[in-house]
Amino acid sequence: MYRNVLCLVLGLIVGIQLTEFWGYLTFTTDEYESTAIAVDTAAPTLPLKVSLADWLHHETRVLCLVLTMPKDHATKAAKVKATWGSRCNKLIFLSSQDDAELGAVNLNVTENRSNLYTKMRAGLAYVYKHYVEDYDWFLKADDDTYVIMENLRYFLYPYDPEAPVYFGYRFRTSYPHGYMSGGAGYVLSRDALRRFNLFALNSTKFCPLNSRPEDRQIGYCLLNVGVVAGDTRDDMGRDRFLPLNPRHLMPQLQPGTWLDKTFYFKMNYSDCCSDTSISFHYSKTHDFDLYEYFLYKIRVLGQPEITYALPKRLDGKQMDQKLEYWSAQNSDNPEKL
Ligand SMILES: *[C@@H]1O[C@H](CO)[C@@H](O)[C@H](O)[C@H]1NC(C)=O
Ligand SMILES: *[C@@H]1O[C@H](CO)[C@@H](O)[C@H](O)[C@H]1NC(C)=O
Ligand SMILES: *[C@@H]1O[C@H](CO)[C@@H](O)[C@H](O)[C@H]1NC(C)=O
Ligand SMILES: *[C@@H]1O[C@H](CO)[C@@H](O)[C@H](O)[C@H]1NC(C)=O
Repeated sequence: MYRNVLCLVLGLIVGIQLTEFWGYLTFTTDEYESTAIAVDTAAPTLPLKVSLADWLHHETRVLCLVLTMPKDHATKAAKVKATWGSRCNKLIFLSSQDDAELGAVNLNVTENRSNLYTKMRAGLAYVYKHYVEDYDWFLKADDDTYVIMENLRYFLYPYDPEAPVYFGYRFRTSYPHGYMSGGAGYVLSRDALRRFNLFALNSTKFCPLNSRPEDRQIGYCLLNVGVVAGDTRDDMGRDRFLPLNPRHLMPQLQPGTWLDKTFYFKMNYSDCCSDTSISFHYSKTHDFDLYEYFLYKIRVLGQPEITYALPKRLDGKQMDQKLEYWSAQNSDNPEKL
């Protein structure tokens, strides 16, 4: 009899505690959603309950091009599609075999490492022909690149897609201005895609066909048709596009590695990566699950809310000044390659 009363009392206490705990959880969730909106008064006011990420999804439209091959359709490519690829406004796999279910196109190029540049040229011609007017930015990634699409859009938002510019992680090379790493992914403005197709693809002078690395060659063609290599580091010099896996960068990049010899801008060695990072290369299939869990699933209870203001969009004059500033930037690495 006493035992039953005790159980009832204990049950009530536990029940009340759980109710309070549940209330706490739902309260913080509501708060989180309704405050994740633009606070910059110069930017449009978002309707309540629409997150900044959802809003940017429609405002800054990104078509994603992922280089893959038939033997990886069911594994690496499928993983991209099941994770970050689903957050693109449009996702296309560049392959040598059509695959309607995956969304892969056959570019009629023989699979070979030395053919990647030819394949990429065909891929950029394909999206230009079918999609140039439908999207603002055109992201190229590999099937072992992981991209945080929300941060990519947040980064791109201030810039005019009609400006001749492209962004990524920048390497040095034998020609000035360097090029963007293919593995970290690079993103072309609509105008950059247009210039590439109208003035580079038909010119053996601006854009010679050869079997050199894809990213270096695309960078060369873009430079020759007046596309500026933008700077993607944050205000503390921390990179957003990472050509390595976080495991290679934390606690820090080891001096003397290949990246240490080929960077265009010196990495922030004490704090490698921006808190608005965009991409990681050399990601294994199981890394994708890990990133998804840490980025989209786990909640750290009791953390203060984070509110990001929408950055201001640059007007024409400001955009021109940015382009000028970026094209005048010199490498931090004085060594000749
Ligand atoms: C590849 O070749 C086939 C057969 O000639 C053609 O139907 C298809 O459009 C080509 N693909 C591209 C992307 O050009
Ligand atoms: C790949 O390209 C290289 C260099 O052009 C060539 O030697 C090799 O035979 C090619 N491999 C295949 C499988 O076609
Ligand atoms: C490539 O095409 C553009 C646009 O039609 C033209 O202005 C340019 O002269 C062409 N370049 C070559 C080398 O044919
Ligand atoms: C690197 O990042 C830290 C912030 O974690 C900052 O305090 C420092 O000034 C940065 N270093 C450089 C060289 O920008």
